[in-house]
Amino acid sequence: MVIEPKVKGFVCITAHPTGCQKNVEEQIAYVKGKGAIRGGCRSALIIGASTGYGLASRICAAFGCGADTVGVFFERPGDVKRERPGSAGWYNTKAFSKLAAEAGLYVADINGDAFSDAVKEQAIEAIKKSPMGKVDLIIYSLASPRRTDPKTGQVYKSVLKTVGQPRTDKSLNTDTGEVVEVNVPVATEQEISDTVKTMGGEDWKLWIEALDKAGVIADGCKSIAYSYLGPTLTYPIYRDGTIGCAKKDLEATVPQIAAIMKKHGGSAYVSMNKALVTQASSAIPVVPLYISILYKVMKQKGVHEDCIMQIQRLFADELYNSKEPDLDEQGRIRIDNLELRDDVQKEVFDIWPRIETQNLNELTDFEGYKKEFLKLFGFGVPGVDYSKDVEI
Ligand code: NAI
Repeated sequence: MVIEPKVKGFVCITAHPTGCQKNVEEQIAYVKGKGAIRGGCRSALIIGASTGYGLASRICAAFGCGADTVGVFFERPGDVKRERPGSAGWYNTKAFSKLAAEAGLYVADINGDAFSDAVKEQAIEAIKKSPMGKVDLIIYSLASPRRTDPKTGQVYKSVLKTVGQPRTDKSLNTDTGEVVEVNVPVATEQEISDTVKTMGGEDWKLWIEALDKAGVIADGCKSIAYSYLGPTLTYPIYRDGTIGCAKKDLEATVPQIAAIMKKHGGSAYVSMNKALVTQASSAIPVVPLYISILYKVMKQKGVHEDCIMQIQRLFADELYNSKEPDLDEQGRIRIDNLELRDDVQKEVFDIWPRIETQNLNELTDFEGYKKEFLKLFGFGVPGVDYSKDVEI
């Protein structure tokens, strides 16, 4: 069928298999172009492996380090009967797995709920079947709006709200290109704790405990979870809001994970990553407007990076190549250093109060934002003939 983008609010409900494949090929080419990563992982488990930072991590592990990979994700296959294309992460994974297998690497894909015990068991079985039988890198890159507690069956939903005081701020209607005011309401105590339960560190710890118990953690194994800080501008919505509470909880779990990894001579960290257009970030109020300004400033200064560039730098400069991670005083890896550079943030801060619908395209990279957003779903990718029938 011929597939066109169908954007509904902050999601696109269609995805293009050929476009997604090209995106994956482009990321692989970037990683290969940077050269082999010395002393890299040999066998990696990526939790949240199909899009965004997790996909980039899987690509760096496989094509930068030459590692076997087990990928866990939650994606929708194409439905031929109902003529419904699959999700982008489904096609990304198809493309990745084909190319990794062709390169002679072991690949196992697990499509299911990473929060469940059953998926953890499946991942352990897949690791046991891999050539090494263990993993020496575990990336935790989930972004999910809900979580079913595997012990109680209770469903928790995360909310994007403030803590303490409501907040009225500028935001962007990415459908219409209008700068609007959003009122972000205050979360209740219950909503805060539900968000922490969903996106905090509990599930990361459950994964590491399950892998440890199953004896599949290799000597010297590293585990990294991804987090975000951002500028003070977005603190009320992000860092000091409900999602920030969950991220702080994730960060506070590091010592517990590190204690388990230490038994294997390994280590655990959070990496604070840069704000980027992904399916997860486009749902957060205020953030798309901030990203549009940030892209403009960082591109002008020649320091813009996308997911694959960020993660290649994480692997090559912080985790491997005989390097030790450079940590901040709270023990975190900071690949968000360019985003938060003083000169970058000063310009973003200068632009922020002046933004209105009329000057959006002049003062921000909203065009770039829209392109990146569609690209996530395989649309607008150079070299793809979108008028052609494609297998879903
Ligand atoms: P994304 O939406 O592109 O990827 C999320 C991944 O999680 C996908 O592979 C999806 O299939 C998987 N997933 C979601 N629910 C699942 C479930 N129940 N079971 C199995 N897999 C599931 O998100 P993105 O942006 O790459 O985020 C990944 C991590 O990076 C998150 O922790 C996020 O907070 C963090 N981060 C993101 C930043 C950004 O600007 N996008 C900045 C800094 C950190």
